[in-house]
Amino acid sequence: MRILYVVGTRPNFVKTAPVIGALRERLPDARHAIVHTGQHYDRLMSEIFLEELGVPAPDHMLEVGSGSHAAQTARTMERLEPVLLEERPDLAIVPGDVNSTLAAVLTAVKLGIPVAHLESGLRSFDMTMPEEVNRIVADRFSEQLFLHSEEAIENLRAEGIPELRTHFVGNTMIDTLVALEDRFRAAGAAARLGVEPGAYLLVTLHRPALVDGPLLAAAVARLAELAKEMPVVFPVHPRTRKMMEGAGDGVPGLLLTEPLGYLDFLSLIADAGAVLTDSGGIQEETTYLGVPCFTLRDNTERPVTVRAGTNTLLGLDPAAIAEIPAMLSARPDEPVQPPPLWDGHAAERVADVVAGAKD
Ligand code: UD1
Repeated sequence: MRILYVVGTRPNFVKTAPVIGALRERLPDARHAIVHTGQHYDRLMSEIFLEELGVPAPDHMLEVGSGSHAAQTARTMERLEPVLLEERPDLAIVPGDVNSTLAAVLTAVKLGIPVAHLESGLRSFDMTMPEEVNRIVADRFSEQLFLHSEEAIENLRAEGIPELRTHFVGNTMIDTLVALEDRFRAAGAAARLGVEPGAYLLVTLHRPALVDGPLLAAAVARLAELAKEMPVVFPVHPRTRKMMEGAGDGVPGLLLTEPLGYLDFLSLIADAGAVLTDSGGIQEETTYLGVPCFTLRDNTERPVTVRAGTNTLLGLDPAAIAEIPAMLSARPDEPVQPPPLWDGHAAERVADVVAGAKD
């Protein structure tokens, strides 16, 4: 059997690493080829993740880099097609909802190569998000759909996707977190940054709806205000850095850093008093770790994190940042149960399905 994995961005590596590991173990004689599209390419956005996650060196680097949606997607398709023709995989495995995902699904399906989609069925019902378009296309054309939460079953059913294609396996991103737990618990990133565990707000913001317009400056101003009450640690995504133009620099209590490696980042989540984000994956990691998360968006494709009690949707409104300390003190201090099948074994269940389909 020949399996090809297509990854391109930070969260892709985290979601796919355990699946590559589980399938290499289950099918040791199969060909396992890894394609890195190069959508993320800075060392701190790519290489450091592959190293920390123990992902084998990619067999193919497409080096597509940044660009408009059309340019990035088209470049990925053009460069992936000859690789697929050369590798002739029996299955292409693609994670998530980024442009690399969209490009890989379209290229594979047009060559008659079956696709397996990791993290299927998430829906924000907000078609202005590029990820929503990517998810819908990926799910529509995938043969095997791997689901990480129960609402995905209903979302896919509503789109007429046959149930026999769907497999509720759990969250492979949480597999990675569980596998790294001893290492990130020992990483001590908070101490290195000079903040006290349990007392700081960890911030990540990178969605176009927030950072590509005036809302970013408003959010930074609110964070600078909040930093008077509670230290704020803000590892800044390159997209956000480009738009900030020095805003927030030198504000006491507001610590802007480069993007961080995964061990340091998980260490900072685990020790945070709370997290403010617009990321999808971080809503999940905070849920597993029982850390309060405030999501600066109008919607979430991960309502399971809100039901779990860790995640609060603030709306796409920087003014809401001022409410965080009060909301934190009003929270009940109850232990959080991770959602079903977020247990560190999701990739093994993916491997069961993929290996079973071969028999
Ligand atoms: C992409 C995904 C988003 C995901 C995020 C995770 C799409 C449409 N968006 O957003 O869903 O949540 O990755 O991080 O696929 N840049 C660098 N160095 C890099 C990568 C990017 O400087 O290594 C800068 C470039 O200026 C680039 C910008 O960041 O133009 C945006 O990168 P891109 O990959 O297009 O989108 P992300 O915002 O990272």
